[in-house]
Amino acid sequence: MLRKGDRTAWLKGGRATCIAPGPFPKRPWYLVLLGPPGVGKGTQADKLVETYGACHLSTGEIFRAACRNPCEAADSPVMRAALDAMARGELVSDEIVIEIIRERIRCLHCMHGFLLDGFPRTVEQARVLDQLLEQVGPRLDAVILLDAPEEVIIQRLSGRRVCRRCKASWHVQYKPTRVDGICDNCGGELFLRDDDRPESVKVRLDAYRNTIGPVIDHYRDSGVLHVVDASGSPEQVFANIRAVLEAEGRPWEKTLDEAAARQAPPA
Ligand code: AP5
Repeated sequence: MLRKGDRTAWLKGGRATCIAPGPFPKRPWYLVLLGPPGVGKGTQADKLVETYGACHLSTGEIFRAACRNPCEAADSPVMRAALDAMARGELVSDEIVIEIIRERIRCLHCMHGFLLDGFPRTVEQARVLDQLLEQVGPRLDAVILLDAPEEVIIQRLSGRRVCRRCKASWHVQYKPTRVDGICDNCGGELFLRDDDRPESVKVRLDAYRNTIGPVIDHYRDSGVLHVVDASGSPEQVFANIRAVLEAEGRPWEKTLDEAAARQAPPA
């Protein structure tokens, strides 16, 4: 199994490689998570990765990783423009995002599978993803659209706090830390993401509303779209997603535990 959380190639692009890839799942999953900002895509991605082993590929994480490395970001006017747009809550331009994905095309045929989070966000990006997948092989198994009322989303975003050190995500109400403002995992300081400030949240929600319709139509027409109620607890939402994937007719043995048991030598 790929070392959990190792997305070096995805975050750095170029010639970077991930560390110590292990046995591949018998049947990798190729999934896309769609949904408004703050609906819980990252939260569900963690659970899906743990269960199915697919690699979590978030475009937002690429930008945040560049932000944490100011030298690299400062060297690249393109990346600086992307980060400025992101801080304002706007979408990064299709040209930049598509270029970034093209640079990471290897991640799209990783034999561990993938879980794309935050891409595609526009129909242009969706079309480019189709072309790239045609070039490199895998077909999408499912596109999961997480859906929740706007008041739920705003509550989730306004209460989210992220650890400066290990980047773990917490919530003041739904996932509080033991000590206020301090990460339970590593003792790092928690902060509010720039784009979680109310003025940026409004821009992000507007950007989502203005672009997502044609993306939904695109995947509905392809027959891979599943709308999942994301208004419940993280566990309830995950159960809803599992139900959708099970209904896809995939034998449940493809979870990591069962795959590992199958590969274990007989006692
Ligand atoms: P990105 O990082 O993709 O952000 P996003 O889509 O806005 O989503 P978030 O990460 O804010 O939220 P989430 O849905 O993952 O929710 P989470 O699980 O953290 O993109 C950031 C920016 O990058 C964009 O605005 C844009 O500028 C740019 N960008 C990225 N990709 C792009 C692209 N393809 N094209 C153009 N621009 C692009 O949950 C939120 C909170 O709620 C957490 O605190 C969590 O603990 C809590 N929570 C989650 N689920 C539940 C639940 N079920 N019950 C209670 N609390 C919950």
